[in-house]
Amino acid sequence: MRLSILPFLLHSLVFTNISAPVYGGRYGIDTEGMSLEEILEAGDETLSSNDPLEAINIYKKGIEQINPEEDSLLTALSLYTNAGTAYSSTGDERQAVAMYANAIRLYSKEIEEIVDESTQKYATDIVAQAAFFLGMTHEALENYRKAADSYAYAAQLDEYHWAALANLGALLQDHLKVPAEALQVYNKAYDILTQTDVEPTDPPEQPKLVLSQLQYRIGLAITYSENQKCVMQNDPDTVVPCSEMAASAFNYALELDPTNESAKHMLASVTADATMRRASNTYVTQLFEDYAENFEHSLVDELGYKGFKILRSAFDTAFGGKDKVPMFDLVIDAGCGTGLVGEQFRDVSKTLVGVDLSPSIIEEAVKKRPELYDEADVGDVTEVFRARKPISMIIAGDSYIYFGDLVPLFESMRDGLMDGGIAAFTLENASDEFEETLAETNPDWRWQLQPSGRFAHNKNYVEKIGKQVGLEVLYYEEMRGFRKEGANDVNGHIFIMKKTSSQEL
Ligand SMILES: C[S@@+](CC[C@H](N)C(=O)[O-])C[C@H]1O[C@@H](n2cnc3c(N)ncnc32)[C@H](O)[C@@H]1O
Repeated sequence: MRLSILPFLLHSLVFTNISAPVYGGRYGIDTEGMSLEEILEAGDETLSSNDPLEAINIYKKGIEQINPEEDSLLTALSLYTNAGTAYSSTGDERQAVAMYANAIRLYSKEIEEIVDESTQKYATDIVAQAAFFLGMTHEALENYRKAADSYAYAAQLDEYHWAALANLGALLQDHLKVPAEALQVYNKAYDILTQTDVEPTDPPEQPKLVLSQLQYRIGLAITYSENQKCVMQNDPDTVVPCSEMAASAFNYALELDPTNESAKHMLASVTADATMRRASNTYVTQLFEDYAENFEHSLVDELGYKGFKILRSAFDTAFGGKDKVPMFDLVIDAGCGTGLVGEQFRDVSKTLVGVDLSPSIIEEAVKKRPELYDEADVGDVTEVFRARKPISMIIAGDSYIYFGDLVPLFESMRDGLMDGGIAAFTLENASDEFEETLAETNPDWRWQLQPSGRFAHNKNYVEKIGKQVGLEVLYYEEMRGFRKEGANDVNGHIFIMKKTSSQEL
């Protein structure tokens, strides 16, 4: 099934690390008296034998000698392109950009002069590859607009370049926030990989996995959009609910790859599947692995997240003011992300331990705030709480939203905390619009898996489970608009709980 969508917006994942093939082959250092072709071969062999610095020296000698009147265009294009790849593998992305751009410039200037069709085609293929690598390099440098232009150019030169389209789609969706455009290019990439009469450029080794990712991304593009109108591709007059279209894409992604946990989770989200009790660790890990580098910029700068600050000020209020807050011996920052919450609580923590499912997020936390945590560990909070007992305080900002049923989570907090220990955390609440519906249809709702893939919780339910396991509410605060979802405010709430002593239970 193909989908098409009208105006909408947002979400994440990429197709990268597609390594550069090398055009040519042979080893040599002294280029004196060598033809341009021989220099190219020598550079390529040196690069293949994992000596990019020496390869750069050789390519540079070749590039200095290029004479467009006399030399083969193919050799010159290959020299620039492969020099770009050599620079990129040394981490010198700026020089890589310059080399790929040189290849594109030379091609634009000379291609009209080439009469032989097969030479023309080969030159175009080389430059399509150069444009693709240029896109990847710009992406690494966070020049997202330029990266998108480069991928688009690669796909224009080589209409079967599915990877350029897939990367372009991810950029349009994740960074340039134009999912309607992303959707179109995902569909094109999907077509290239599924049409039998087409030979894709560099076909993937495991096409089903790539197709599953493409369908998952199509589903996300639909789900996170606003003011959208979904129509059947072969019947544009028939409007269908977008949630159905998204569900169909996630379903398809699962058929192609039954282990695609992200598609499974999002399928449950768009169908409001009440049987889903928590997000799987695989889903959460994958989500934040993909998101890690851009995490804080995206959350704070783009989505206006301020839950970490509100949590601390609510916490101070709960204790009757900042100056009345005691010191806590062992504090666990549960689902710590890059340390935004931890930073707020450092001054009241003797030992502060960050825990997160995502290894890349933990890496980012240590890189960004090397002094913050006494320890930063990868793990599932429900296991860590029991393993680290007795804990004085658990803090959790925006991380319990991946649990629906709170009983197992609260039991593990109860087991990990010392008597009198504190749990200070945020949860999401239903949106204003959704709350109205719930008030009418299901006033006793407990948790709700939302189309965003995150759970919302009812205040009464949270308090009830707290009481049931021995966590008494010390303080509650509503948190309206602590983050954005597209143009809308997300509602949440803060709970400060205290573990009642075992004797009191
Ligand atoms: C939205 S981020 C919030 C990060 C941070 N607390 C903040 O406020 O900036 C949610 C984090 O919780 C982590 N997380 C979710 N479920 C978890 C679990 N069961 N165990 C450990 N970490 C978890 C995710 O990996 C992610 O880094």
